[in-house]
Amino acid sequence: MEHKRSHFHDYSHAVEYDRRAERSEIRAQLVPKLVEALELAGRERVLDLATGTGRFARPVAERLKHGKIIGLDEALAMLRVAQEQDGKDPIPGFLSTAGTAEAFPFRAGAFDRVFTVFALHHFSHPPLTMTEAHRVLKPRGRFVILDPVVATAEDALDEAIHDLINQILRRMHGNDFHYHSAEDIQDLLTGAGFHITRADLHAFSVDQDGMDGIPTGRHWLEIAEQMEGESPELRMRFEERYFRYEKKGEKVHVQGSFGYALVCGEKE
Ligand SMILES: C[S@@+](CC[C@H](N)C(=O)[O-])C[C@H]1O[C@@H](n2cnc3c(N)ncnc32)[C@H](O)[C@@H]1O
Repeated sequence: MEHKRSHFHDYSHAVEYDRRAERSEIRAQLVPKLVEALELAGRERVLDLATGTGRFARPVAERLKHGKIIGLDEALAMLRVAQEQDGKDPIPGFLSTAGTAEAFPFRAGAFDRVFTVFALHHFSHPPLTMTEAHRVLKPRGRFVILDPVVATAEDALDEAIHDLINQILRRMHGNDFHYHSAEDIQDLLTGAGFHITRADLHAFSVDQDGMDGIPTGRHWLEIAEQMEGESPELRMRFEERYFRYEKKGEKVHVQGSFGYALVCGEKE
C-alpha cells in the first residue's frame, strides 16, 4: 500500500485546519472534559502528543501556573501555526518540538501527564506510542487519550462495518489511518501496563448542513458516500449507528451522532 504524505505537512492546510478547529462547537465542548480528566494541580510537566496547531495545548497551559507544556508533532507546518498564534498571545509556558509518536525525543520519567487529542487514529504503531507514553511518564503519571471512535461492536454486522470503515479510510488516507473503539483504546493502554482510571464516551447529535464543526467530519462523509455501494442491511446499520445524509445539489445535510472516547490510563 502506498504511504501518502499527510496534508498536515502543508502550511496552507495547517492554517485552514486551525481556522476550522476554532469554529467547532464539538471541540469547544470537549476542552473542559479533557482539562478535567488531566486533574492538574498547576505544577506539572505535560506532553501534548501530536499537538498540531496547539488548539488543546492552550486551555491546558492556562491551568499550569508553574508547570510546562511541550507540544510534539511530526508536521512542521502545524507547529509553525502553533507558534504564530495569528494575532493572539503566545500559549503560556508552551514549547514545541518536531518528532514522531513512535519514538519520543524525551528521557524516561520526564512528564507528569501525556495527552493526545484527535490524533491516535493517525498513528502507525499505536502499541509503540503507548509504550513510549509509559516510558516518559513518572510513576502515577497519566496518559489521557481523546479520539473519535467507532461504536462498540454488538454483533457480526457491526464488526463488518468497522472493517469496512477502516478499509475505506486506508484506501483514501494510507495504511496508518484507523478508527478505534473505546474498548480498543482501553486495551492498548492496558497492553502497555497502564491501569484505566476513566473511560467516557461523549456522543454529539448533529442535524446540520455540511460537516463543518464535526472533527474528522470529512472522513465520515467519505465513508457514508462509499457505503452507498454496500448491501441495504449494512447501510441501514451504518445509518442507525452513525448518521444519514442527503445531498441537495451542492449541499449535503447530515443527521446522526458522532462519538468521542476520553480514556485515561495511570502508570502503576
Ligand atoms: C487532526 S490533527 C490534531 C491536532 C491537535 N491535537 C488538535 O486536536 O487540534 C492530528 C495531528 O497528528 C499529527 N500526527 C499524525 N501522525 C503523527 C505521528 N506519527 N507522530 C507525530 N505526530 C503525528 C499530525 O501532524 C497532526 O498535527
